[in-house]
Amino acid sequence: MTVKKFDEKVSLLENRKINGKYYKMIFSSAMLSKNVRPGQFLQVRINEGQDPYLRRPFSYYRVMGQRIEVLYEVLGYGTQVLCQKKKGEVLKVMGPLGKGFSGAIGKKKRILVAGGVGVPPLVFLAEKYSTDYLLIGTKSKAELLPKSELKKVRAKVLCSTEDGSYGTEGRVTLLLEKILKDRHPEEFFIQTCGPKPMMEAVIALACKYGVEGEASWDESMACGVGACLGCMVKTKTGLKRACADGPVFSFEDLDL
Ligand SMILES: Cc1cc2nc3c(=O)[nH]c(=O)nc-3n(C[C@H](O)[C@H](O)[C@H](O)COP(=O)(O)OP(=O)(O)OC[C@H]3O[C@@H](n4cnc5c(N)ncnc54)[C@H](O)[C@@H]3O)c2cc1C
Ligand code: FES
Repeated sequence: MTVKKFDEKVSLLENRKINGKYYKMIFSSAMLSKNVRPGQFLQVRINEGQDPYLRRPFSYYRVMGQRIEVLYEVLGYGTQVLCQKKKGEVLKVMGPLGKGFSGAIGKKKRILVAGGVGVPPLVFLAEKYSTDYLLIGTKSKAELLPKSELKKVRAKVLCSTEDGSYGTEGRVTLLLEKILKDRHPEEFFIQTCGPKPMMEAVIALACKYGVEGEASWDESMACGVGACLGCMVKTKTGLKRACADGPVFSFEDLDL
């Protein structure tokens, strides 16, 4: 089904730092909030003019009625400019874009594995669909989402930190393997989003235990709507556009 996309001017209701890692931006739009699936994204024009020239992609973090929340990390120039925007400032935003995660997964138990900029769409997925585990990996406790942001998540939330300052010490795949090896792995369905090395390690474990799943393969994007071919992903059925054919692909389809 082709979902209609919109390009709207929105006024910021909020744009503030919520912890050592993330900023939260909130705005309202009747069009951009219609029929959104977790894993879909928005293309945000950071400034009115041409600096920065390209829009920046951000996942939907939460949609409540017409209210849209985006959670973002400040990584480079665009997000540095974005985080200085004040309540009432206007941004041009296009969405909903791309294909999101599967909501229906039959009788399988959902395990979500998130890291870095992959945390927002997976929290959205866990809030919207029945989920057994939400696994979150970060470098340290300071980077974890505040607990208040997870209060609508009904899944069991397990965290790992690389420095051991919170939860299990080490990579998030330690948590995943512990779950898979103690159970019947074929009962599960994994959905993952985060840094590529993390997703590659998740997919390698899924292969080892014979578990199906999906990964949001976020490539740098230019147009965001399938026109420039700047975001190609290698799949077993040829090159595909992350923005229009993805960003969510099945593990089976990805050619790593
Ligand atoms: C489909 C999709 C959804 C996304 N959702 C979110 C989100 O919900 N929250 C969020 O904070 N970010 C998200 N991102 C990443 C976000 O788009 C980039 O962080 C942003 O474009 C960086 O812009 P910049 O100008 O600040 O940095 P740039 O100057 O463009 O880059 C600065 C640094 O950030 C790194 N970077 C750029 N793009 C990405 C990326 N896709 N993943 C990881 N590192 C990147 C670059 O390698 C570089 O080191 C998403 C990206 C995609 C493709
Ligand atoms: S960003 Fe242009 S085709 Fe994907």
